[in-house]
Amino acid sequence: MKIFSQKMQISAEVDELKAKQLSVGLVPTMGALHEGHLALVKKALNENDRVVVSIFVNPTQFDNKDDLKKYPRTLDDDVALLKTVSKDKILVYAPAVEDIYEGNTVSQSFDFDGLEFEMEGRFRNGHFDGVGTIVKRFFEIVKPHRAYFGEKDFQQLTIIKKLVEKHNIPLKIIGCPIHRETSGLAMSSRNIRLKPEYKKAAPFIYKTLKAAKEKFGTKSAIKVSRWVENEFAKHELLKLEYFIIADTKTLKTVTRKSNKKAYRAFIAVYADDIRLIDNIALN
Ligand code: PAF
Repeated sequence: MKIFSQKMQISAEVDELKAKQLSVGLVPTMGALHEGHLALVKKALNENDRVVVSIFVNPTQFDNKDDLKKYPRTLDDDVALLKTVSKDKILVYAPAVEDIYEGNTVSQSFDFDGLEFEMEGRFRNGHFDGVGTIVKRFFEIVKPHRAYFGEKDFQQLTIIKKLVEKHNIPLKIIGCPIHRETSGLAMSSRNIRLKPEYKKAAPFIYKTLKAAKEKFGTKSAIKVSRWVENEFAKHELLKLEYFIIADTKTLKTVTRKSNKKAYRAFIAVYADDIRLIDNIALN
């Protein structure tokens, strides 16, 4: 498996592949790869001749320095895991901060038509400017035909589609369903940091989302939200940051349900100092 650390080299390699009429998919990650990432890589391999997996813990999308410091970095394990999927069709691009930011580790400012101010945007200052900056850079460096993102970060996926549309970037964004552990807990690189009691408690998040979906059939969004807030208020270990039922397109909190619109419930929860997010389609 070829591993690149410099943008010039990965760019040149992809140019060569494209000159041979091979299609290229991109799976951007921050490493600490798990089955969820592998599902994205497998889908990308099904739809492209070659797949670039970028592994980069992007400093500009972290508003919490401690979270950035503690974010797992497991490049050797990541490469070993990718080799179980394909040895010759995957290219890894694992740059250093310098290769990407060239001594100026700051975000560009973006206008995502308000999508960036909802949910994660309210609780993580500058997060989507950081995501937009790095993802746009990767698109410019790799110039893939398709790029793959998980629906666990549904707001991120929506914003990246907006980024591509507004900046006329010639590629297709493909969203992939959330991968869950057998307990129902959404797979995340952060899960490996959960202490045993929190790991045991965390499936409560998805259990509550499923119950909320059930209730949304007959109850108002406000009533469902109050019910979820109550369930977490009673919980001894998990702390709710937000639960929001939003319009799938605008990501705005729903006030009045319409049967013409699609809704999703979004949740962020603290398990100790680890922030977990999840979401579920409601209709
Ligand atoms: O979803 C992630 O892991 C990151 O936000 C991404 C898209 C790789 C950008 O750093």
